[in-house]
Amino acid sequence: MFTHAITRLPGENFADGLTTSTLGRPNYHLILKQHQAYRQALQSLGLEVILLPAESAYPDAYFVEDPAIVTPNLAVITCPGAPSRQGEGSTLEPVLKQYRPVVHIDPPGTVDGGDILMVESHFFIGLSERTNREGAAQLAKLLAVAGHTSETVLVASGLHLKSGVNFVGKDTLLITSSLADNPAFVKHKKILLDPTEEYAANTLYINDTLLMPEGFPKTHAKLDRLGMRIIELDVSEVRKMDGGLTCMSLRF
Ligand code: GLY
Repeated sequence: MFTHAITRLPGENFADGLTTSTLGRPNYHLILKQHQAYRQALQSLGLEVILLPAESAYPDAYFVEDPAIVTPNLAVITCPGAPSRQGEGSTLEPVLKQYRPVVHIDPPGTVDGGDILMVESHFFIGLSERTNREGAAQLAKLLAVAGHTSETVLVASGLHLKSGVNFVGKDTLLITSSLADNPAFVKHKKILLDPTEEYAANTLYINDTLLMPEGFPKTHAKLDRLGMRIIELDVSEVRKMDGGLTCMSLRF
């Protein structure tokens, strides 16, 4: 069960963050509303939600999942793959130190937390434009010392591994068809995303509830079969910045 979530308020300059989206310029007031609804949903699931102030030097810093990874036994301050995001972890570190021993990924290794998928105590480490082999190797060693197993998975499309696959409980992965054939995922049950709804891969499983992005009815119908409560959240402005539900919190 998760008991805590760390979040950070989007700053007024959040639209200056990195994005490849062609969905238009995002709206600050709307993202604040969407972020508040997200925090309220986490609270409704029994989590204590820690809200950190915006970081004007780092417009992407409200995507707190990338500069850190929290496992049951340790917290890792990563070295994000985008130079503009390196340094976001320094204000997370004192918070994480209150809950876990903290270790670091060191350059030339790079890791974005968005590439790290935890399934029970096993970790899939996506090799992407943001997470390199050196970073993956450092992380695998740190995880092994903490008693976790891990393996790497090549991310051929999308920003992060978790842009295409997430654990939705009951030994099941919600996954795009391009990742579904990857041998790393052969042992798991899979719910295949419709090609028109691949953004919904970024669904968040918390305490036997699924938080999913609003507006993906085919995926909602498929997830319904798991028999869990589903909460839909509007993340239109987050999506415009290449983000999603998993990116906006560190759960532990
Ligand atoms: N805007 C999120 C990222 O590209 O890191």
